[in-house]
Amino acid sequence: MTRKKIAAGNWKMNMKHQEGVILISEVVNMVKDEVPSTTTVVLCPPFPHLGYAKKMLQSQPNIFLGGQNCADKASGAYTGEVAAGILKSFEVDYVILGHSERREYYKETEELLATKVNIALENDLIPIFCCGETLQQRQSGQHFELVCKQLTASLFHLTPEQYAKIVIAYEPIWAIGTGVTATTDQAQEMHAVIRKHLAGKFGELAQSTSILYGGSVKGDNAKELFACPDVDGGLVGGASLKSREFANIAKSF
Ligand code: PGA
Repeated sequence: MTRKKIAAGNWKMNMKHQEGVILISEVVNMVKDEVPSTTTVVLCPPFPHLGYAKKMLQSQPNIFLGGQNCADKASGAYTGEVAAGILKSFEVDYVILGHSERREYYKETEELLATKVNIALENDLIPIFCCGETLQQRQSGQHFELVCKQLTASLFHLTPEQYAKIVIAYEPIWAIGTGVTATTDQAQEMHAVIRKHLAGKFGELAQSTSILYGGSVKGDNAKELFACPDVDGGLVGGASLKSREFANIAKSF
């Protein structure tokens, strides 16, 4: 059983055109020099960056592009939305789905996310499916149950062939953008619970699922997080906007 090791950068709604060009060129150079080709690097910039970014990544076989979201419809009159098929036509390979910011600010429900997962897979995109609890949910001891429910609701309808493509990102909401990282014990504990839950439905396939940790991952904490047996990489927000920091994370496996 080998799991893909993944360092994914979620730029969120940051970086103007020229800033993006500089960041990508620096990341490409650092990854080329420092990151083994067995590590998968994924850059998830805002949509308008994807076209030129693809051209800049031509020479770098282990750096991929991801969208931060996609529509729940295939095409048509949905002003402001971006379809999975459009992303794929720009040679995008991944899409983040179910990020807590989408769930909270844009009211994305588990049912909607199940639809988005389907449409991403139909268009040959790899969903990076996010799950995670609030601080209050953790403090009241509901965190395991809640995260498992998120997975069940949006992924358990998949066929084994579809499920095999999914990447999971566990992102405790209290750790996102706060500078507070989950301890390695907290991360490992939850990742093991997630893998067991997935195995309950998909059996052995769960051993091959990459489960990323997200929430204030930095160059100086990535190594200990990635050393946990069930942590297969990171979904990185703030630190993905700095090339040196992000490259340090990507070489922390
Ligand atoms: P952060 O964000 O690294 O800035 O905490 C992670 C995420 O939201 O994906």
